[in-house]
Amino acid sequence: MASTVSPQINILSGGERRLLADIGRIDPTSLASYREHGGYAGLERAIRNMSPTEVIGEVEAAGLRGRGGSGFSTAAKWRVTRSTAADRKVVIANAMGADPSALSDRALVEGNPHLVIEGALIAAYAVGASEAIIAVRRDWTVAIERLRAAVDEAIAAHLAGYLVLGTDTSILPRVWEGSGAYVAGEETAVISAITGDRGMPTIRPPYPAAAGIWIASRNWESPTIVQNAETLAHVAWITSHSAADFASLGSEASRGTKLVTIMGQVATPGVAEVALGTPLEGIVGVAGGASGKPKAAFVGGPGGGAIAAAAFGTPYDYEPLDAAGAVIGSGTILVVGESVCMVDSARFFADFSAREACGKAVPCRIGTRRLVEALDRILSATPRPNDVTLLRQLSRKVRDTGLCALERLAPGPITTTLDNFADEYRAHAERGECLAGSCRAAGVRPLLEPLAGLQ
Ligand SMILES: Cc1cc2nc3c(=O)[nH]c(=O)nc-3n(C[C@H](O)[C@H](O)[C@H](O)COP(=O)(O)O)c2cc1C
Repeated sequence: MASTVSPQINILSGGERRLLADIGRIDPTSLASYREHGGYAGLERAIRNMSPTEVIGEVEAAGLRGRGGSGFSTAAKWRVTRSTAADRKVVIANAMGADPSALSDRALVEGNPHLVIEGALIAAYAVGASEAIIAVRRDWTVAIERLRAAVDEAIAAHLAGYLVLGTDTSILPRVWEGSGAYVAGEETAVISAITGDRGMPTIRPPYPAAAGIWIASRNWESPTIVQNAETLAHVAWITSHSAADFASLGSEASRGTKLVTIMGQVATPGVAEVALGTPLEGIVGVAGGASGKPKAAFVGGPGGGAIAAAAFGTPYDYEPLDAAGAVIGSGTILVVGESVCMVDSARFFADFSAREACGKAVPCRIGTRRLVEALDRILSATPRPNDVTLLRQLSRKVRDTGLCALERLAPGPITTTLDNFADEYRAHAERGECLAGSCRAAGVRPLLEPLAGLQ
């Protein structure tokens, strides 16, 4: 079958094949095609043969951690919702694709929409939710059309809706379209937008798993599980295979696979699935290797960090990346070569975070902007004497006083480039020289090409 995802999504042939296995093999507009490839076996097994607690136990045994960035234990979150007494509980599949350069969630919901819906239904059964909302970025029109059709087909086949599979479990799935702003993918912002408010984050705690969607007219606070679309796809995979099968790949701390978007200066950019714990150099290899001599990789999207090529042995895993100043984040790995200016790159990401900040928290609204201004002064060789110190101190303040993870992560590209490429900062600030010969001062911005979506 020809590719079933939008042309800008290139599914790479290397790496592992679990969530990606059926993309291109099944017809994403057909429930029958999904079922021919084993679709909904996980839901059937969960609902017919397992208690909700057993389903949570299976997800826990698999060691599944959230794939939307934070790596929090999925089962631990579910237990909170399961044990919170409430008339109404909700599961939200987060397919907001907040980082526009990340293509993996989009590949899933376009190429295999039922897989995400099935995972959301299993999650709803496990935590006792009566609703499963698939929250999708509004401009993913192909995905929205397919998800809506898939939801209708699943309901018509009694796989969702009233009395699922003839049992006494009822779960109403629906598709909700949200704005494509970066901050609007943050879980409390998704909840706010679904309830009709602006998509802005709220302070946690309370965590949504205990008190999420709030229905003002009834003063209801519904425990709400917000789970990344990929996490839910893994849930469907686990229940249709086994916890042991899932855990057969991955690192000690993080079992299973992760979808990544590899881009920048690599031979074949695209979306791949890799075992967690794979060294970065192995992932770059899945994309055909770096084109030219690599200098670094920005790992994790706008709030990620730069890992120098000399450290490409770093395992792609939550804690090792954290230790290196990067994150799993949106699952993007942007490889840059010698001709890319690291100061300008840091400025690019910082400016994105500053422009996308919702403005609710002062350190975020003003702090991120001040960081960009200091970078601008350095880039134009007109720094104030303490600008590098300011970058360090203000980065720490913005990180530590954040209302949401946008600002906690926003300084990452600055601090990691300061740590690893201090000579480039010095050359700009002291001599007005770009060591890469390619920054804004030189009028060329090759870095921006693969990041067109972020502009
Ligand atoms: C600025 C920002 C944007 C985010 N965008 C997304 C997104 O597009 N999709 C997503 O699943 N999580 C996103 N997150 C993470 C969510 O807040 C949340 O942690 C996640 O949906 C939880 O699901 P998980 O446990 O399955 O990872 C974002 C967080 C921040 C701070």
